[in-house]
Amino acid sequence: MNIIVVGTGYVGLVTGACLATKGNHVICVDKDQTKLDKLAQGILPIYEPGLDKVVHDAVTTKHLSFTNNVKSALTMLAPSSADQRTLIFIAVGTPQGEDGSADLKYVLAVAREIGQELQQPAIIINKSTVPVGTADLVKGEIAWQLFQRKIFLDFDVVSNPEFLKEGVALDDFFNPDRIVVGTDNPIAKEQMSALYLPFVAKPEQLMIVGIKEAELIKYAANAMLATRISFMNEVANVCDRFGIDVEQVRSGVGADSRIGPAFLKSGCGYGGSCFPKDVQALVRIAQSVGVDPLVLNAVEARNKKQKQYLFQNITARFGANLHGRQFAVWGLAFKPDTDDMREASSIDLIRALTTAGAKVIAHDPVAEEMATSIFSDLIQDGKLQLEHDPMTTLANADALVLVTEWKEYQTADFAKVKASLKSAVVFDGRNHLPMNDLKKLNFEYIGVGRR
Ligand code: UDX
Repeated sequence: MNIIVVGTGYVGLVTGACLATKGNHVICVDKDQTKLDKLAQGILPIYEPGLDKVVHDAVTTKHLSFTNNVKSALTMLAPSSADQRTLIFIAVGTPQGEDGSADLKYVLAVAREIGQELQQPAIIINKSTVPVGTADLVKGEIAWQLFQRKIFLDFDVVSNPEFLKEGVALDDFFNPDRIVVGTDNPIAKEQMSALYLPFVAKPEQLMIVGIKEAELIKYAANAMLATRISFMNEVANVCDRFGIDVEQVRSGVGADSRIGPAFLKSGCGYGGSCFPKDVQALVRIAQSVGVDPLVLNAVEARNKKQKQYLFQNITARFGANLHGRQFAVWGLAFKPDTDDMREASSIDLIRALTTAGAKVIAHDPVAEEMATSIFSDLIQDGKLQLEHDPMTTLANADALVLVTEWKEYQTADFAKVKASLKSAVVFDGRNHLPMNDLKKLNFEYIGVGRR
């Protein structure tokens, strides 16, 4: 099939490259020429395991190419056959607006460009995470442009939310739990099914639903996952007070087949580009139709508090005034296998520690560049130092604080860690380190709801 993907961010690039592996012809469009130049040299704008090879192979076989505008993408594509429409994915950002709702300016700008340039029948697919009713807005914008051009073209707008987790996005694309397509148009249904059936093991994993239903599924799924995490974080806080081990509680709760074990890990709060933004956007969606989002507000409030968890434990142990103290921080990305630091718990922690007078020496296997720009002020003031090796963060530190659960931290030589630290204290913000081994080495181990 002929496919255009507008937006080569995280979602657009993964979508375009993965669709190209199944023999489709994909053109990715992005306004950022520097990004395109780098992509042409095989340099990816994001860190995602395995994606560089998929992009490279698809470019080599000429199934994937790049351009900086929709018009040239449309002219580069071979004409679609009479029974096949050109598929145009919109995968641009939906940043958070001032009131917490998703800002649609980029999505609607793409819709306008499509309406101004389209010459053939097409199916426009909303991949961006957008509020309920956005497909109608996109359709209206394209129709208005076509009307002004005085041409009639057969087109429709479909909702197809993404469920890609950073760090494992390729596996999520090639082995999805489900693919959701929102449409009531039989032609779109047929073509979207043909596009996606090669990606599912069983046909029922391809779920064709209503358009607004698809739009809401995305928000509801992410908000549900965020709810589970916030819920377990609250349970972990109760565990702390009773001296109960939350890991045992988690196993017992997750073993119930009605609940299941995934997304029940307590820690120092969730981050990333989706959960915080999507929970807030769903709050606004609910409020816009007069529903008081009591549960969602609580999920968000718990997460904000949870991001202070490590700092509160550190000040409980070392006192509120941290002048003269130094802390080693392991992990800056919002989760492992990504360099993404959006809404990362490390930001709240490092800002709080340095404001209280402490110095921080931090390490992350891939987020160092991102951290250098986010914390440029602290680095300049000498309050934060970034190291390439986790072991060199430890000398003279009053404690080690783990924020992101990178695998390599688990297998560190903890006897050496102990020898380097000023005091053998570990705050494990993800319950990730081998607690029993650390206790045998006489570390003071403070996890999240651990006994
Ligand atoms: C999420 C959704 O999972 C994905 O389907 C969606 O399309 C995009 O948003 P992502 O943000 O990449 O994916 O990360 P995810 O693995 O879901 O983790 C989000 C946050 O939750 C991370 O900060 C992670 O550390 C935290 N988390 C996750 C927990 O605190 N506990 C858990 O049990 C799981």
